[in-house]
This record gives sequence, structure tokens and C-alpha cells, in this order.
Amino acid sequence: MFRKIKDDIYSVGVIDWHRKLFDELIPLPDGTSYNSYFIQGQEKNAIIDTVEPDFDQDFLDNLEQAGVEKVDYIISNHAEQDHSGTIPVLLEKYPEAEVLCSAKAKSMLLDLLELKEEQIRVVEDGETLELGGKTLEFIDTPWVHWPETMSTYLQEENILFPCDFFGSHLATSDLYVEDEAEVFKAAKRYYAEIMMPFRKIIKNNLAKLEDYEIDMIAPSHGPIYDNPEIILDAYHDWVSDEVKPEVIVPYVSMHGSTDDLVNYFINSLIDEGIKVKPFNLTDVDLGNLAISLVDASTVVFGSPTVLTGPHPAAVYAAYVANILKPKTRYASIIGSYGWAGRMTDKLLDLMPNLKVELYDPVVAKGHGSDEDYQEIDRLVDEIKIDLENL
Ligand code: FEO
Repeated sequence: MFRKIKDDIYSVGVIDWHRKLFDELIPLPDGTSYNSYFIQGQEKNAIIDTVEPDFDQDFLDNLEQAGVEKVDYIISNHAEQDHSGTIPVLLEKYPEAEVLCSAKAKSMLLDLLELKEEQIRVVEDGETLELGGKTLEFIDTPWVHWPETMSTYLQEENILFPCDFFGSHLATSDLYVEDEAEVFKAAKRYYAEIMMPFRKIIKNNLAKLEDYEIDMIAPSHGPIYDNPEIILDAYHDWVSDEVKPEVIVPYVSMHGSTDDLVNYFINSLIDEGIKVKPFNLTDVDLGNLAISLVDASTVVFGSPTVLTGPHPAAVYAAYVANILKPKTRYASIIGSYGWAGRMTDKLLDLMPNLKVELYDPVVAKGHGSDEDYQEIDRLVDEIKIDLENL
């Protein structure tokens, strides 16, 4: 299968309808795709990014169907194997091809794939490659997943090929974005899980792209944006320092005490007209929690005490929140214990990356006394004041 984007520009990647996890960690409720692009110039041609190695034969079939008889350049915007993993197979079939990538990507490709050093040429930020009537420009866009990432820009058509940047894990037969709400959610999930830890660097990358006229963004996961403003505006919003007045409540309860406290907290927030999103950690899609952390102002964890510490489900969620580095401004903890413990300290120790103002946690002995519930009222009041002043 291959699809024409413009004259001499084709989508030749594959759709992975059934993949459920990425990195054996990230849930993929909607599958994904590994997009690859073939650009034919008057003299030379190029393939931009390849596909997950499990799909190598499908990829070669696509190229054959597209009539690709020789390949001059393989551009590797990103060394992760879902985009680079089929380069060795491609080089076997097209041994004359030269792999072009950033300096950091070269050492990664040598580490990750069995390539020979002489098969790879490093390209610099701003360097151009003439294919004949089609000019590719390489733009350093680091940390749009890994440190070596770059984007490729087709000058004559104003098409940006940014690999993971602006991508979405979404298996769809739509070549272009058609259902904007569906793609927005998938792209936000993707940003939350892949890009959010590098928010400040991504802000710089977005600023750099403002020097380019971009009519189309063709990422290496998910559909192509033929109206790129949708995703550019969304990214500007997500990387900004602004937060939304929302309280995220990831929680777990064993015997109902924490559950009662958390429910009282949630209902009190609703009574105050405050938007709240609870996530029961016994049955949570961490991707949905990550999406909420993209722009929520406040997170309040709920956990009972297991032995002397937090429940392992809360530990997992706190660890994930910490590595994603959301721009959350306020945090607290609600929980319970039976006899003793350092649940709150241990949970907070897991989240040094959250640069938050901490409200005093509310931790009840057993099912909670009237005083504990008054403490939750105090917590809601403090949250309300801060959200009114955002
Ligand atoms: Fe789609 Fe970072 O690989």
C-alpha cells in the first residue's frame, strides 16, 4: 500500500492496527502507524524514516508497489527503532543508499543497528539536500523524544517531516486528519507521554519552526496535518506555562477509608464549582491520567498506608507523574492508616520533579473523624482560593 501526497511525494509506511503497548509501557488504545515518506526528485530520491522492523516485508512491498527501483538517501530523523529499525533491510535491498542523520543519531544508529560507519553521513542544522526540483532542509529539533532528533523540511512544498514531533498513536485509514477531535485526543496523549518531560526544549523547537512556512506536517505516527495550525496551536498551548483550573485525583483504597475521604473531597470540589477528574488506580489507563496532567493546575493523590508506605498503585502513578514532569502548580495527598506509617513523606519523595506548592495532606486514622473531614474542607477552601487567582 502506498498513497500519493503530492506529485512525486508518497506515503509508504505501515499501519499497526493491533499494537497495544509501546516500550512495553505506554498503552496504545488506538494502535499506531509507522509513517515513511518517499520523495522523488529529478535526479535523486530519498526515503524519510522507515518502519518498525516487524513490518519490514510490508514496507518493502509498499516501495515496490510505488515503483521504487533505487534509493539514494535514507533520512533518519530519529534513531528509535520504530523509525530506524528497517534501515538495515533497506540497505540490503538498496545498497547504494546513503543514510543521513544528525551527529548524535549516527552514534545511536551504530549502537542500535548493524550498520557500517561509511554508510552514514552526518548532516548539520540548516544543511540542504538537492534532489532536483526538490530541496530538503534539515532542522535540529532535539528531544522530540530522544536527544538526537531532527526534522526534515521540503522547501518547495512547505512540508515538515518531524518524525515523533506532533505525532499521534492512531491507526486509521485516513491519510490526513479528518476527525479533528479524535486526533487531538490521540496527539495530546502522545504529547503527554513522549514530549511533556522536555516541555521547555520543545518550546524552543516551536519557536525555531516559526521561521518556516509550513503548509503540511507529516509526522511518523498518525495522520498528516494538512491544516497544521490545529496541532501547532495545541502544542503552543501545551508547552505554555498556563494551567487550567482542574483538580486531578489519582487514588486507590483498600478497605474504603481512603475511598470515603476522596469521595467527600471530590463532591466538595464539585459543590464549589471546581472541575475534578478522579482516576481509580486499580483500573486506570495511565495515558488518560497523563493527558490530564498536561494542563491541570492541581493534583491530589489518594492512598492508604500499606505497611509503612503508600499503596504500590499510588507509588507507580507518582513515579510516572514525576518522570513526565507536568507543569502542575499545586499538590496534596489524602489517605488513611491503621496504626502508623510515613505514607505521605514516601509518596512526596517520589515526586521531586513536581515543582508544586504543597497543601498540608489529610491523613486519617481508620475511616476518618469529623476533624479529618473538616481538614478536607480546609483543603478544598485552599484549592478554591488558588484556582480563583490563577
Ligand atoms: Fe516513534 Fe521515539 O519513536
